[in-house]
Amino acid sequence: MENQTHERLLIIDFGSQVTQLIARRLRELSVYCEIHPYQSVDDAFLADFAPKAVILSGGPDSVTREGSPRAPQSLFDLGMPVLGICYGQQTMMTQLGGKVVSGEGTAEFGRAYVTPEGSLDLLEGWFEDDKEQVWMSHGDHVSEIAPGFEVFGTSPNAPFAITADVSRQFYAVQFHPEVHHTPNGSKLYENFIKLAGFTGDWTMGAYREQAIEAIRQQVGDKKVICALSGGVDSSVAAALLHEAIGSQLTCVFVDHGLLRLNEAEEVLSMFRDHMNLQVIHAEEQELFLGELEGQSDPETKRKIIGKLFIDVFQKYANEIEGAEFLAQGTLYPDVIESVSFSGGPSVTIKSHHNVGGLPEKMGLKLVEPLRELFKDEVRALGVELGLPASFIGRHPFPGPGLAIRCPGEITREKLEILRKADAVYIDQIRKHGLYDEIWQAFVAILPVRTVGVMGDGRTYDYACALRAVTSVDGMTADYYPFSHEFLGETATRIINEVQGINRVTYDITSKPPGTIEWE
Ligand code: XMP
Repeated sequence: MENQTHERLLIIDFGSQVTQLIARRLRELSVYCEIHPYQSVDDAFLADFAPKAVILSGGPDSVTREGSPRAPQSLFDLGMPVLGICYGQQTMMTQLGGKVVSGEGTAEFGRAYVTPEGSLDLLEGWFEDDKEQVWMSHGDHVSEIAPGFEVFGTSPNAPFAITADVSRQFYAVQFHPEVHHTPNGSKLYENFIKLAGFTGDWTMGAYREQAIEAIRQQVGDKKVICALSGGVDSSVAAALLHEAIGSQLTCVFVDHGLLRLNEAEEVLSMFRDHMNLQVIHAEEQELFLGELEGQSDPETKRKIIGKLFIDVFQKYANEIEGAEFLAQGTLYPDVIESVSFSGGPSVTIKSHHNVGGLPEKMGLKLVEPLRELFKDEVRALGVELGLPASFIGRHPFPGPGLAIRCPGEITREKLEILRKADAVYIDQIRKHGLYDEIWQAFVAILPVRTVGVMGDGRTYDYACALRAVTSVDGMTADYYPFSHEFLGETATRIINEVQGINRVTYDITSKPPGTIEWE
């Protein structure tokens, strides 16, 4: 198992929607942790993983149901600290001899307030205002605590909101300390890891050394190819691989003609000149734009681009003799999703474009050096590897590029106009110091021409929409509340500086119900 050199915490997942947030809170505290579904955690797993402490997550089931999930019973005999959260608390109580009941008005959903009873080391820094706001989400509750436990906090519907068996370092809370709505929740995790003896040895510097070693071990003297998009994930993966195996790495940068102004030059100069990587520039603009001609259906456009991307990548990769590995910038959230037992992949809203399926098709093995990291950790690693902060902090850019910002039919003329308008818009955002506050900002060129008047003449040009959103992970988003002054100034600049646009609108749709991109 990887990362044996770090102190490790194990999160046993019972299927809560917010288990990932527990991992986030712990990583923020420099503690290495992994989430594993309860079915895969048995005695052998525990011995192999060798955690220093264990957290039992929440979950949708009821411990009162026969056959409902349990932690391995042996966990409680290993002498290590355990923290049970919500469902985790309830199974812990049940397994240690307490009782949980369903129904009878025991449910609590949403904000609640916990008041203290006695003092507990886990609660250091809590209850400075007599009570703490917490987030509850439970139908069942503990009606009888297990032998050895004492109560340290109660809420109106959870008489055993916080309990502990101090001598065994078993802690149990009914609420979710990992969510935003438990404002002081991080403090509770901080206290828990302190009590468990963690020193906080999970730093990017340490990770970098260890990841490099792991890549060298996996790859040996073989060659690796990597699809470099210029986005944060593939860029950091490429930089890390380059540091580990130098010239054994070749990157392929597929230029589909749907990039932003100067994007290809910037990415190539960064990686070839500045970082000395071997990068093949696959100039396939004609191929992509040719195949897209006359297509206006969003899914068709995406499918064409996705298929061509794979064909092109494969063509160039085949020319790299002796390549045995394909590098991918897979992140931890993707890994967790794929093992989660609580539900399959959600409904496909749009076909996202990636190189899935390629490794099997080409007989390549995968190297995924970022698969233990969250997005912000990837950014920190990028900075650690010497990528400029301005490059690492760039807004995400989708694989299909400008194709999905050009609703309807794509033409070279529209793409040219769109590139220019987008560059002016981003320049405006940077000049006003707003770039880092915004998750993503871009222009979409609309399949509509409108009448205008400029000077003494009539114009009949394209309308465009400006989009800017704030988001934590791209899953949900709010439109950015620009001032009218900013919007007015930007519209004037775009209309004056970009020939072909005579009307500017601002998209004020949040996600949901909208998506971030227009297609
Ligand atoms: P939506 O439009 O689905 O976008 O709200 C959410 C985030 O995903 C990006 N996006 C993509 N990224 N390939 C990608 O690599 C794609 O096909 C794709 N479609 C959307 C989008 O830019 C936003 O950050």
